Amino acid sequence: MSHLFSPFTLRNLTLENRVVVSPMCQYICNGDGQMHDWHLMHLGQFAMGGAGLVFTEATHVSKVGRITPRCAGLWNDTQEAAMKRVVSFCKAHGVARTAIQLAHAGRKASTHTPTDGAQPLTDEEGRWTALAPSSIPYAPDWPVPEALDRVDMNRIKAEFVAATERAARIGLDLLELHSGHGYLLNQFFSPLSNQRQDEYGGSLTNRLKYPLEVFEAVRGAWPSERPMGVRISAVDWVQGGTTIEDTIVYTTALKELGCDFVDITTGGLDSRQRIRLDKGYQVPCASAVKKAVDLPVMTVGMIIEPQQAEAIIAEGHADFVMLARGMMYNPRWAWHAAHELGVETAYPTQYVRCIPKHWPEAFDLAREPRNAADQRA
Ligand SMILES: Cc1cc2nc3c(=O)[nH]c(=O)nc-3n(C[C@H](O)[C@H](O)[C@H](O)COP(=O)(O)O)c2cc1C
Repeated sequence: MSHLFSPFTLRNLTLENRVVVSPMCQYICNGDGQMHDWHLMHLGQFAMGGAGLVFTEATHVSKVGRITPRCAGLWNDTQEAAMKRVVSFCKAHGVARTAIQLAHAGRKASTHTPTDGAQPLTDEEGRWTALAPSSIPYAPDWPVPEALDRVDMNRIKAEFVAATERAARIGLDLLELHSGHGYLLNQFFSPLSNQRQDEYGGSLTNRLKYPLEVFEAVRGAWPSERPMGVRISAVDWVQGGTTIEDTIVYTTALKELGCDFVDITTGGLDSRQRIRLDKGYQVPCASAVKKAVDLPVMTVGMIIEPQQAEAIIAEGHADFVMLARGMMYNPRWAWHAAHELGVETAYPTQYVRCIPKHWPEAFDLAREPRNAADQRA
């Protein structure tokens, strides 16, 4: 019996296990944000690798909401068709369920990729004006974003809804709003980036108003039988920023609006952040939210070993573990984890012969083939 490899149901969706492939931007889309063959390979490998759920990369609801010029988008028919091809491919050939993360980068839009330094684009490189709750840049040397007025806010909410309708048509099983890593909804949540003087700024209640309005609008557009959740940066890691208590208030309000889970990450909001990175460093935040609010929780961040993941679920710190870099390094992580924990997980039929129990004797990766029979095709 493994806690990690036990099923879990969110609304009408039963996931085979608690292993989730975390969203991962690839910064390689064509045109204005269309997925292509790279995404077939990238997401396809995860879809067959035994995880219960695979997330697409952060998928932006508008052109100005992209982090980089080559991020994924879902605001036109071409993007929808391109993503449908990738998601249908994963569903046809994989064993995992599929999820989308919808995002708007706010003041962190118009930058280079992390591997190119993540700095703002210059005018010569095609910079566009980023939008934010207040005209406060992410870092002192970053361009000042334009503060959103109510018309802009309503338009962005409508963009989230339109992208949600497209995601529903594509057939994705689960939807998550990105309210973490310092992107637009996170910028409304944090007092460091939201210094509005209207009813969307000031108190925590006011700062949560826009993220909750967007959640409500998207929940209304997302099919009622399919689950929906929110990725939240639980703390900013900066003095005066959001706290775990704020995140518990946020999560409680989301639950009241019909949220099915929260995905707890941290940071990304402010360039002054200081994070102590360690194995499972964000698990205590997920655990605190789980203890305070009766809502399924996903946890992420340097979850590396199967026993570590098993303990997180078994000890009740979270209901799901998410892996990003560990999955890129080993897309079959879930297969290997199941083997190490002594349980079975799903394989595509074509790969059933590689399951250790079907090998001639106890599976041992270090073992040389014992005889010619072992080497038969
Ligand atoms: C290449 C890469 C791309 C990422 N893109 C996203 C993204 O699109 N959305 C998001 O919420 N987090 C993104 N992240 C963060 C991961 O989802 C995850 O939260 C973080 O890497 C910590 O997990 P890990 O230690 O298992 O890598 C990305 C991380 C990596 C390495």
